[in-house]
Amino acid sequence: MKFLYEPSSSGLKVEFSCTDSDKGSELVEYAKAHSDFASKCCQSFYYANLNGPSSLLVGLGECDELDLESLRNLAFSIAKKAQEHKETVINVSLPKKFLDDASKEAYEAFAEGFMHAEYSFDDYKSEKEAPEELSIALVLGEGQKEISERGVESAKAYIEGIFLARDLVNQPSNVIYPETLAKKAQEALSPLGVDVKIYTGKELEDMGLKAYLSVAQGSDKAPHFIVMNYAGDPDSSYKTALVGKGLTYDSGGYSLKPSNSMKTMQSDMGGSATVIGAMHAIAQKKLKVNVVAVVAACENLLSGKAYKPGDIIGSLAGKTIEVDNTDAEGRLTLADAVYYATQELKADRVIDLATLTGACLIALGDEYTGLVTNNADFIQELKDAAQKAGEKVWELPTSKHFEKQNESKVADIKNTGGRLAGTITAGMFVGAFVDGDKPWIHMDIAGTAWLDNAYSYLPAGGTGIHVKTLTKLFEK
Ligand code: BES
Ligand code: MN
Ligand code: ZN
Repeated sequence: MKFLYEPSSSGLKVEFSCTDSDKGSELVEYAKAHSDFASKCCQSFYYANLNGPSSLLVGLGECDELDLESLRNLAFSIAKKAQEHKETVINVSLPKKFLDDASKEAYEAFAEGFMHAEYSFDDYKSEKEAPEELSIALVLGEGQKEISERGVESAKAYIEGIFLARDLVNQPSNVIYPETLAKKAQEALSPLGVDVKIYTGKELEDMGLKAYLSVAQGSDKAPHFIVMNYAGDPDSSYKTALVGKGLTYDSGGYSLKPSNSMKTMQSDMGGSATVIGAMHAIAQKKLKVNVVAVVAACENLLSGKAYKPGDIIGSLAGKTIEVDNTDAEGRLTLADAVYYATQELKADRVIDLATLTGACLIALGDEYTGLVTNNADFIQELKDAAQKAGEKVWELPTSKHFEKQNESKVADIKNTGGRLAGTITAGMFVGAFVDGDKPWIHMDIAGTAWLDNAYSYLPAGGTGIHVKTLTKLFEK
């Protein structure tokens, strides 16, 4: 996608119309008379002109209510309409509410929306259906060249991270498995100055990652433990850890999943994809922060070597764990990963992202990510970043009562907490492995990392959700 910072004499002309403005242009009156166009948000009316540029009338709904997320949606729907009508150049300005006193954030959100229209995952289609490349000719307000360019650049950094995350999730498990996930992370991040270390084989045993290795032992694909370090702030020793669940396939193990819930379980590395995508965006933007990302990648399969329900296993933290259900494997891998991040790597605070529980889908659907935390200030920071990113999150409560559900009769802790509050007890299990009282946030993206049906600018399949939230957390 190309961005031009002046109008183009050819190309589609975009005109906006609000429900709350009293009088429309000639085109608005025409559209209202000849179609069901009513200026509602993201409605559009294409007016072909055989002798010059055609027009696209786009509804904005109540103009007062427009926010940055509306700009993303709007731009996305304009680009889709242009593709549908085989237009390759779009002349467009920000809606008036944003144009007069335009911010970098407005141009960023607008540009991001256009860019989302370019995503497709067609690696395995012999005949590609990708539309022609679009050029967006931004019609700027007075003196907005610099600010609009900075907005576009910023959006590009998010989008590269998001598309990387989506691709990783969409690739099937015969293509992305622990070794290839580690390679992809290295290939994507090393050129940006991120130090990527990959641990495998006997190293992992020596490191003491017992819980993680118990999950991994059922598969012939070797586990790979990936540590990605971005040292962007030499003036500070303060460091945040991002830990991503990296189950490149989750069959459930001996607590086997039914086939229909197993089918998309290549997406069970969605947390790691987001973390890798976020590291990409953070490094690309050269943010002045120190961030380390950790992914304990493996597969959860069945075999003569696999762990079994009833097993009692160890962990890096030294706690013993009763395996109540081998399908509650994510929290076992995360237990070692968050302890490693906070204890061995000495991160000062940690966020883990995981496609952790089906219960989260039941509670919050595919729109909201579920949050669990031990720190009110930290989660407020994250909520603010998510709000700016247009990514929805919802905090769930914790309590001593929930904590009891994870108690085991035979070991220090048990890997399931029963049917009630499954997302909370899963999160609290992970939290029990954070070293000390370090600030920690758990993000359950089981519902949001993968969509059966596209909505707004998110495609069906991998969404790359929270690449933006995590990046914005560090952008102050
Ligand atoms: N990867 C799944 C969770 C999941 C479910 C992600 C649906 C995306 C869509 C996780 O490992 C799992 O199987 N969780 C179990 C936990 C249970 C055994 C306590 C679940 O949610 O059923
Ligand atoms: Mn599972
Ligand atoms: Zn899983």
